[in-house]
Amino acid sequence: MQWQEALDLLEKGMIRAAQKVDGKWVAQTEVKEAILAAFKAGELKEFAGGFVDKHNLPAREFKVEDKVRLVPGGSSVRRGAYVASGVIIMPPAYINVGAYVDSGTMVDSHALVGSCAQIGKNVHLSAGVQIGGVLEPIGQTPVVIEDNAFIGAGAVIVEGVQVSEGAVIAPGVVLSRSIPVYDCIYNRVLEIGEPIPPYAVVVTGNRPVSDRMMWAQEQGLTLRCAMIIKYKDAKTSAALELESCLR
Ligand SMILES: CC(C)(COP(=O)(O)OP(=O)(O)OC[C@H]1O[C@@H](n2cnc3c(N)ncnc32)[C@H](O)[C@@H]1OP(=O)(O)O)[C@@H](O)C(=O)NCCC(=O)NCCS
Repeated sequence: MQWQEALDLLEKGMIRAAQKVDGKWVAQTEVKEAILAAFKAGELKEFAGGFVDKHNLPAREFKVEDKVRLVPGGSSVRRGAYVASGVIIMPPAYINVGAYVDSGTMVDSHALVGSCAQIGKNVHLSAGVQIGGVLEPIGQTPVVIEDNAFIGAGAVIVEGVQVSEGAVIAPGVVLSRSIPVYDCIYNRVLEIGEPIPPYAVVVTGNRPVSDRMMWAQEQGLTLRCAMIIKYKDAKTSAALELESCLR
């Protein structure tokens, strides 16, 4: 696939950097390769306002009929990113190439949606949320946040971690492939790469260091972990209720 065609189709939401196949998210390597080819082919260009970037990856511009609210104040949506109708982007926020942001989603101030990240419908990305991008390695699945998930202020989700439908990630939680997630309701540790289960409520916790660090153990040191403290209930929903009139 040619990079020009790929960027056009990505922007229209007709192709994606990752797709759900038989219930599992799979990286679309051909699409990711085309994005990398665009970076290679791009030459530096001066844009209005003193900005410099690859000539073929300019910031996108929207019209009222797109029904995307891009509030003024320093936000940018890069060429090759799909933003569905009904999305609200509060300034400053950045949505990078290959990202997919589905309808009804809120991208609040200081949020980053990294390259190729896949964000579902009616997701809330609170202020300061960092969703990492994954362009390389080419086969790695990007970060995926499924429909109706809530990501609390300042949470960081990187390295292809997947958050299933309706899950709630509390403010400040960091999820990467190396941070274990303890499910304290079903008494188990999630496998590496296993998605955060649907409707799980995840908060930051601490765990003792492992036996290979005896000295640290003797000092009583702990390492960061994430803990599923409950599965979403009516109380959680009430805690997360947002003013619909703001939409
Ligand atoms: C994550 C959250 C939604 C959970 O709400 P909830 O379902 O009502 O949770 P509960 O009050 O039933 O908490 C269950 C337990 O987890 C603990 N807990 C809840 N959130 C926690 C957190 N972030 N860190 C550590 N512990 C937490 C509670 O203290 C409680 O512990 P206990 O059983 O020992 O008393 C809520 O804590 C939260 O973080 N809300 C803020 C969301 C936000 O970012 N808003 C920004 C909008 S822009």
